[in-house]
Amino acid sequence: MATFPEKGRTEKEILKEINEAKKLDLDFSSGKILGSMCTEPSHIGKKVHQMFLESNLGNPGLYQGTKNIERKVHEAVGSLIGGEYDEVLSVGGATEGNIIALWRARNVSGKRKVLLPESAHFSFQKACNLLDMESVYIPLDDEYRVDVSAIKDEIDGDTAAVVGIAGTTELGQIDPIDEIAELCDDIFFHVDAAFGGFVIPFLKELGYQESCYNFEFKNIDTYVLDPHKMGMSTIPLGLMFSKEGSPLSIESPYLTGKDQKTIRGTRASASIPAFWATLNYLGKEGYREIVKVCMNNTRYLIEKMGDIGFKPIIDPVMNIASFHLEGPKRIVEGMAKEGFNISRTVNPPGLRFVIMPHVSKTSIDEMIKVLGE
Ligand SMILES: Cc1ncc(COP(=O)(O)O)c(C=O)c1O
Repeated sequence: MATFPEKGRTEKEILKEINEAKKLDLDFSSGKILGSMCTEPSHIGKKVHQMFLESNLGNPGLYQGTKNIERKVHEAVGSLIGGEYDEVLSVGGATEGNIIALWRARNVSGKRKVLLPESAHFSFQKACNLLDMESVYIPLDDEYRVDVSAIKDEIDGDTAAVVGIAGTTELGQIDPIDEIAELCDDIFFHVDAAFGGFVIPFLKELGYQESCYNFEFKNIDTYVLDPHKMGMSTIPLGLMFSKEGSPLSIESPYLTGKDQKTIRGTRASASIPAFWATLNYLGKEGYREIVKVCMNNTRYLIEKMGDIGFKPIIDPVMNIASFHLEGPKRIVEGMAKEGFNISRTVNPPGLRFVIMPHVSKTSIDEMIKVLGE
């Protein structure tokens, strides 16, 4: 049992203990993390992050420089997505973004029913629980996209919001966002592009036409995407774009800003300049190349998994590939004992791999060797 020390210890002693603990962490550069949606941030991002450890945009008047950079990040990402929007919030990640989106939907509509694809991330369960909203799960079609006609049947006078996913957590599938939007003239529509937000624009440019939608903001009320996933930023950073000013502005009288609109009060903000540095360092060209390599490696994984008898659940739409397997937990745990982090799907059961930029063909080969055995 740890106790709060009476007297301070020496730096040497403390760092020894910290270094021992750190050795137990996996790191992305090992190539052995194949089940995470995060990755090793760019070197410039890491450097800049360390310069802003004190920045707290919960109290923005003290951090004008960080605030200016935040505005530029919002504008630049807005220009990547395209379409019209009224406001952007920097959030801790898509969980916070999804909660704020449903919070808005509930307050704007005065209703409580939320239509969620069966593939929705579990953060929506947190949101519904916190907000006392009712989640209604909509079935998926054969390709694991939400069934739009089932949404249509379910929309009624109690519906507060419809949610669509652009890059599902388990399979990386994209719901028919444009078709759902058609149903939402009078209904709040939230798009969760946590993972897909920094993949889809580049897939399109790489010629993967069939999987892409134009994210013009027709009928989309809120749209969340995570720089700390395929945006290559340091954690934590999500961005939430919305139409019309947020009704969730809470006055913050004793601070330097007039109000706060996020769930977090004090907000670690170093990831914002880190992301600005990263996106400027890479440019669209750099991101396009990263997505290209990740997609090629995803295809390589599918080929190698095929060699040891695994079949993909869907033809991958982005750099997530999952494979049919009953009872995947046993294998996931076995692989963890061998030092590999892979993940699993629930619906349908299977092994799940996220082929992030730190995953190379060599790391796939090493993993396949152990998995095959
Ligand atoms: C589609 C989707 N939405 C939301 C989230 C939650 O993101 P975070 O854990 O960064 O809050 C995830 C995380 O994997 C996700 O895949």
